[in-house]
Amino acid sequence: MSATVYVPKDAGALSLGAGEVAAAIAAEAGRRKLGVNLVRNGSRGAYWLEPMVEVETAAGRVAYGPVTVADVAGLFAADFLSGGAHPLAHGATDAMAWFANQQRLTFERVGIVDPTSVADYLKHGGYQGLTKALAMAPGEIVQAVTTAGLRGRGGAAFPTGIKWKTVMDQKAQQKYITCNADEGDSGTFADRMLMEGDPLTLIEGMTIAGIAVGATQGYIYLRAEYPHAYAALNTAIAAARQAQYLGANVAGSGRRFELEVRLGAGAYICGEETSMLESLEGRRGEVRVRPPLPAIKGLFGQPTVVNNVVTLCSVTWILAHGAQAYAGFGMGKSRGTLPIQLAGNIKRGGLVERAFGLTLRELLYDYGGGSASGRPIRTVQVGGPLGAYVPPAHFDTAVDYEALTAVGALLGHGGIVVFDDSVDMARMARYAMEFCAIESCGKCTPCRIGSTRGVEVLDRILAGVDAERNVQLLEELCETMVQGSLCGLGGMAPFPVQSALKHFREDFRARPVS
Ligand SMILES: Cc1cc2nc3c(=O)[nH]c(=O)nc-3n(C[C@H](O)[C@H](O)[C@H](O)COP(=O)(O)O)c2cc1C
Ligand code: SF4
Repeated sequence: MSATVYVPKDAGALSLGAGEVAAAIAAEAGRRKLGVNLVRNGSRGAYWLEPMVEVETAAGRVAYGPVTVADVAGLFAADFLSGGAHPLAHGATDAMAWFANQQRLTFERVGIVDPTSVADYLKHGGYQGLTKALAMAPGEIVQAVTTAGLRGRGGAAFPTGIKWKTVMDQKAQQKYITCNADEGDSGTFADRMLMEGDPLTLIEGMTIAGIAVGATQGYIYLRAEYPHAYAALNTAIAAARQAQYLGANVAGSGRRFELEVRLGAGAYICGEETSMLESLEGRRGEVRVRPPLPAIKGLFGQPTVVNNVVTLCSVTWILAHGAQAYAGFGMGKSRGTLPIQLAGNIKRGGLVERAFGLTLRELLYDYGGGSASGRPIRTVQVGGPLGAYVPPAHFDTAVDYEALTAVGALLGHGGIVVFDDSVDMARMARYAMEFCAIESCGKCTPCRIGSTRGVEVLDRILAGVDAERNVQLLEELCETMVQGSLCGLGGMAPFPVQSALKHFREDFRARPVS
């Protein structure tokens, strides 16, 4: 009987050598005339252990990592195919503290299933949500999403049920489901992991959305820098179509839903939903003035759902397991779980899915193990390049939309980038303004001109030119951008600057400008 060995083919694991390790395992098994069933799964999210190789044993899966090509012969010699002892062994994967202490709902199948196989997906509970949805009235599906308390995971945290109801209530020949998979935030990779590791969950979530609001066509707007996700999605869409879970007769229900992937245009602003729609229509990614909302007049002028990958994958879990079960996780108005991405200067970086309510400190130290450099953590940027810098005094804040807002921060897409005490916060402030200047779509003046002026003012501060007056000017400029910008890019780019000024003012002193 052949042993089943899992080696991730997720982009993160591949960048750490997983492809070479998989080839070495196949070759060594051949040399030893041993049968090995090699499954290329998604990463389970413990990136500091990638490439993490798992073996299916009678006692469940056991993990070894990080494995290099040079370790492979030794693993065979240690009989790793039967879970043998080895310095890289971590025992049963599910019993490892990193995994055992998580609450994986949206990520329940990521790293577990073969992402290309509908049969494996079904074996692990896939398509139960859609099956239930097909037996419900559209209004009941929308109500389930509302009762679950699901809020959009793309950044704005808008209640998904309200958005869906608006689209459902429109009368139109054609409606669309669009998935925002542009994932432009620094330090975020949850969307990518889902699309590479369990693409059928996204396909199922979009199909449920289509059945609920009466849309027959879906588009995934995928970041062009995600070639592995592109391949995984297209393979999974073809498999779903072949199994008749997509097409003119979804699961024999007589309902139609088609799905296509479109590659993004490579600009951060194309992740903003109205720019995304412009780009999907083949135009330059530029923000549309609202109203009308995309839910009323979206893609090609038709009622359109725009949801993030994690949002749509959460819908799949909600329909399969029940709205109340989902709402049972979390705190306050933040219901369910959030896949949090730990990146930057952190010892154990990766993906942690937990119910809302754990603190930043738990994430940074219990999961993350502190900084990778071993130096004290000075700050974390939460919520991507437009998110505030949070000082250690606020590390006991709960991961919850409202709690973070109360300390001047925002959760965004759940990315946390860690910096140790060698970080220069004035340079980080300058970086935020420069990022905005480069990525601005140019439609409105506060963002287009303000960000460039912001870089100039920061350069004067760093050069020690009239520092006090220039800091005051910078504060006024930030306020103008926050108040006057048309969209979140110009409206939020000042947040990192303002938080740096508030918590790390001592850094705004003269030094050589690079
Ligand atoms: C500048 C900017 C960039 C954004 N980038 C993304 C992105 O990459 N992915 C995403 O899902 N949402 C992004 N958003 C949020 C979207 O505009 C929108 O709120 C979201 O896709 C809606 O889906 P949700 O309700 O499921 O979160 C961005 C917003 C702004 C202002
Ligand atoms: S804030 Fe910036 S990105 Fe947004 S519409 Fe204005 S110019 Fe474009």
